[in-house]
Amino acid sequence: MARVDALRTGTNREAVFQHRLGQTAQDVQALLDRLLSAAPMEGERARPARLLEAMRYTALGGGKRLRPFLLVEAAALFGVARHHSLMAGAALECVHCYSLVHDDLPAMDNDDLRRGRPTAHKAFDEATAILAGDGLLTFAFDILSRPDTHPDTEVRLGLVSTLARAAGVGGMVGGQMLDLAAEGRFEARPRGLDEQDIRTLQAMKTGALLRFACVAGAILGKADQSQWSALDRYGSALGEAFQIADDLLDLEGDPATVGKATHKDAAAHKATLVAVLGPEPARHRLESLVAQAQSALDLFGARADLLKCAARFVATRTA
Ligand code: IPE
Ligand code: IPE
Ligand code: MG
Ligand code: MG
Ligand code: MG
Repeated sequence: MARVDALRTGTNREAVFQHRLGQTAQDVQALLDRLLSAAPMEGERARPARLLEAMRYTALGGGKRLRPFLLVEAAALFGVARHHSLMAGAALECVHCYSLVHDDLPAMDNDDLRRGRPTAHKAFDEATAILAGDGLLTFAFDILSRPDTHPDTEVRLGLVSTLARAAGVGGMVGGQMLDLAAEGRFEARPRGLDEQDIRTLQAMKTGALLRFACVAGAILGKADQSQWSALDRYGSALGEAFQIADDLLDLEGDPATVGKATHKDAAAHKATLVAVLGPEPARHRLESLVAQAQSALDLFGARADLLKCAARFVATRTA
């Protein structure tokens, strides 16, 4: 009760936000632990031990769990039961974790450290890491299609198709392709990317899954058009802010805190707004995106305070 009062009076929103983020992280961890158990489900023959171990290493190995948090809090605006939104959040986290495993592979960003531990291909081997990513991607849609996620089949279908679009060729995977192409891997002289090109690339590689987190709350909550559009605008601004903050952390962050190597983007000629605009203008852009994200939620009133805190968190995080 004291926590709720603190939030209402606005005196301690930050502490409430941190508490709720931590609580959702714990709940997602427990749920993924249960979902990724050794026992095969109906229609499965067996869950090979090494593959399951790599999937669990990847999905249960920490992380902020910001995407499930956003999804659960967006759904809570509509009074959606937490056990439903946590299932959808767990599915989204599977897609996110798969994207990180593949992003870290030698053929992509070639990273050895993730969430303060060896990357999956270092802890296991490349083939196992690729398959663990494939397994998590597919598993996400298994989770979304279960009645536990929502009793209404139309809602579940909405989640499945919206996540497929966010994760696929026109979303995260497409953005990863643009990211690698911008490094100049596929052409001797790649066309330089301008600010708008980079915004598109980042809206796809990073923004799409964060936007999905927010829109999924609207799908689960059967939101009306204006509520849907508010969450869409919030998620899009937050997604853009998130990657700018990530790129600033690559330049200025402490690797021990960030849990991954820093100073890699410039060396790899990554197309980032930090590189094109410089860190100071990028910070200004980040600030204006936080304000944009927060004001998108005004129609929800004080019920959206935690999501507004999340936008601030995205800009100030150190990991
Ligand atoms: C890192 O995402 C990858 C990007 C999209 C920039 P997060 O910073 O959310 O990673 P975890 O899940 O907390 O480790
Ligand atoms: C990755 O962006 C976005 C994904 C789709 C995983 P980055 O390559 O900048 O993410 P980090 O810095 O490795 O976490
Ligand atoms: Mg990358
Ligand atoms: Mg990377
Ligand atoms: Mg990065």
